[in-house]
Amino acid sequence: MKQKTIYTCQQCGYQSPKWLGKCPDCQKWNTLAEEAIVLTRGKGRSPVPAGKPQRLHEVAGTEEDRIRCGIAEFDRVLGGGVVPGSFALIGGDPGIGKSTLLLQSIARLAESAPALYVTAEESTRQVKLRAERLGVAAKDLFLLAETSLEAILERVRELGPGFLVVDSIQTIFTSALESAPGSVSQVRECAGRLMQVAKGDGIPTFIVGHVTKDGSIAGPRMLEHMVDTVLYFEGDAGHPYRILRAVKNRFGSTNEIGVFEMKESGLAEVANPSELFLAERPEGAAGSAVVSSLEGSRPILVELQALVSGSSFGTPRRTTIGIDHNRVSLLVAVLEKKVGLSLLSQDVFLNVAGGVRLDEPAADLGVIAALASSHLNRPLPPRTIVFGEVGLAGEVRAVSRPELRINEAARLGFDRCLLPAGNLKNLEPPPGIALVGVRSAEEALEGMFE
Ligand code: TYD
Ligand code: MG
Repeated sequence: MKQKTIYTCQQCGYQSPKWLGKCPDCQKWNTLAEEAIVLTRGKGRSPVPAGKPQRLHEVAGTEEDRIRCGIAEFDRVLGGGVVPGSFALIGGDPGIGKSTLLLQSIARLAESAPALYVTAEESTRQVKLRAERLGVAAKDLFLLAETSLEAILERVRELGPGFLVVDSIQTIFTSALESAPGSVSQVRECAGRLMQVAKGDGIPTFIVGHVTKDGSIAGPRMLEHMVDTVLYFEGDAGHPYRILRAVKNRFGSTNEIGVFEMKESGLAEVANPSELFLAERPEGAAGSAVVSSLEGSRPILVELQALVSGSSFGTPRRTTIGIDHNRVSLLVAVLEKKVGLSLLSQDVFLNVAGGVRLDEPAADLGVIAALASSHLNRPLPPRTIVFGEVGLAGEVRAVSRPELRINEAARLGFDRCLLPAGNLKNLEPPPGIALVGVRSAEEALEGMFE
């Protein structure tokens, strides 16, 4: 008899005909679950492909087809607006504001074409109450409380909406599969079928995905490969700021960010994030340095805070928030070996203020400055900004787009900028800001504490 079930890893989607304790693909234990095999694909499909080769210039669609929702922070992260037929996944911790963000943006989009918001987690009444709080009153926004994929697709066919939101992909299910909603095969199948509709009918679709404890979108990694755009909505429950980050975008640059503030009346755009992130900076305090970081096409000034203190244990601690731990350990070693600060026996804590995450090597010089300032207990000059990549030999390397970073600093009243000497070529700084090119970490510290 033919086998009717298969074991699927609920972490990565790996499949095996027999049960295994450990997934050979992602190495996780106890993740394989038994699921029924379905033959919805392949069989019964027309073998004749419909596509025909086209000349590049004959292909329909231009950059102008993008639809802006009018929330500039959201449009920018999408690459300049919503692309017809695009399929986007929005992930984030529970309660971070995914439903709020999508309700606010879909209501704006519903002004140009009818939109359908499928709420598979909350009742339509709950969504309406939220909409009232947000002051959203779009005439052509339709709500549907439904968890069955077949029913959803049927309603989409009837209504023919211009935009579709499914909140969330883990709570809907197809009757073609026996496994529970949220399991890998359900998520994969539902997303696949929704995507066919999005692409086939050109309906821009947003799906919400929950995030597991380790921070990735629950369900197969495959989901991220399938969709056009993956956005993460991040933030700290303790801070009102939320950052929308594109980690994958077939229609724009990745690492674009949108900054929002969660208020009583929903999410408000933050057009000047630098001002916000620097608002509570303690001027004249040792251990605080401001870096000019580039997030996508946008420069943002953020404060780095370091605390270096004598360790009471044999192994000193290295704790970082908002910045890569290994990168900081490396920079501590550079300070020790190349600059001669003795940090190896010290506990080091480093925090990026405001709940921001810095992934750019250009922040290296800021880390060096904050660490040295705390260690020497000497504050940095308050109106000085730094950026630059630091190598293992202690050399300071040029970074991309220095002019953008300097302009943002000048706009916010900084009057001195330490930057890689290699970045000075052909630079025309705005008036009021003095540029100091440095070649090594040591030179940078001399320049800072002069
Ligand atoms: P929600 O959009 O439901 O989060 P998610 O869909 O990601 O789970 O947002 C829930 C949180 O947002 C909740 O803790 C309350 C807060 N919130 C506000 O502060 N102001 C508002 O206007 C709304 C709608 C929510
Ligand atoms: Mg929600």
